[in-house]
Amino acid sequence: RVDENSIRLLPKAEVHVHLEGTFELADLLELAKESKVALPGPAATLFDIDTHFAESAGHPGGAGAGAAGLSGFLRFLDWECGLIRTAAQAARTAYRFAARQSASGIRYTDVIINPTHWSGWPGTIDSLFDALAQGFAEAEQDGLCQVQMALSLLRTQTRAEATGVVEWLVEARPARVIALSVDGNERESGRTGEKFAEAFTMARDAGLRRTVHAGESSGPEGVWDALLLLHAERIDHGVRSIEDPRLVDYIAEHGIPLDVCPRSNLTLGVYPDMERHPLAELRERGVIVTVNTDDPAPIGTRLESEWALCADSYGWDENDMIDLARTSIAASFATPELKASLL
Ligand code: ADE
Ligand code: ZN
Repeated sequence: RVDENSIRLLPKAEVHVHLEGTFELADLLELAKESKVALPGPAATLFDIDTHFAESAGHPGGAGAGAAGLSGFLRFLDWECGLIRTAAQAARTAYRFAARQSASGIRYTDVIINPTHWSGWPGTIDSLFDALAQGFAEAEQDGLCQVQMALSLLRTQTRAEATGVVEWLVEARPARVIALSVDGNERESGRTGEKFAEAFTMARDAGLRRTVHAGESSGPEGVWDALLLLHAERIDHGVRSIEDPRLVDYIAEHGIPLDVCPRSNLTLGVYPDMERHPLAELRERGVIVTVNTDDPAPIGTRLESEWALCADSYGWDENDMIDLARTSIAASFATPELKASLL
């Protein structure tokens, strides 16, 4: 058995985690009080609040109610980010995130931020990313985990909204934003590779990195679109690539990492259990995999727990943990200098 303490001690990176999915119950209670907002329904636990949104989206049983639970879950993220109304709150959120990453022994993080969730923000998108960057800078000065941001589009946004955001990104070059991403529910949006192609091409031409959610709420066709139309350098989730053997060969040959989040997939009903989850098989077939938390607070996990879950489920040992750690750093968008210092 690999114990979580030994995992915590390994220098490593996390490359698939949403800032929106890192608010603990105490953070939410504090924000709700500051913003004078009532909690929705009973709030004995974070899961109660999350369940309220899953049920209001028509999925009784909460986030664990199946793949359709993703839409209720995204509404929960809208509600909690909607509580953030000031630069101090945004910076505090960023700082606390970096501190929690450090507590898991994470030395570098590519964090995903989707501004469409931040509906209570009174200012411009510039001021939101400014405040977050200040929180991350303060954390770094205090010796905490280094964080860079991937700005994420939502799958249901329009072509014009997507290109508008990227035009701003390329023009404003906000501090610490190094990548473009897209997330959200592809069951709601349908197939959208073509719709976002222009935005991702602009991002690539401007030197931004690209990571794309696909192969979770979409099948292999979503991953093909990410690779062929959106110039994805990494795929977030990507686990349903297993359904197309040609795709598995392609991502293995091209060295495209899949940023897998096992507990998230179980919670949101993509797979019923770890035995039927394709992570081990993908890795055995030569695909580069990273293991991540996705939305650790509402899912109730930490990075060391995710890696320990893999060790328990697949018989992975200490050497596999060292391999996961090295892979996480190599797959990240950290600078070559930082990578060299961590590897
Ligand atoms: N945003 C936050 N978590 C997500 C997930 N698991 N899938 C798609 N979009 C997300
Ligand atoms: Zn995700």
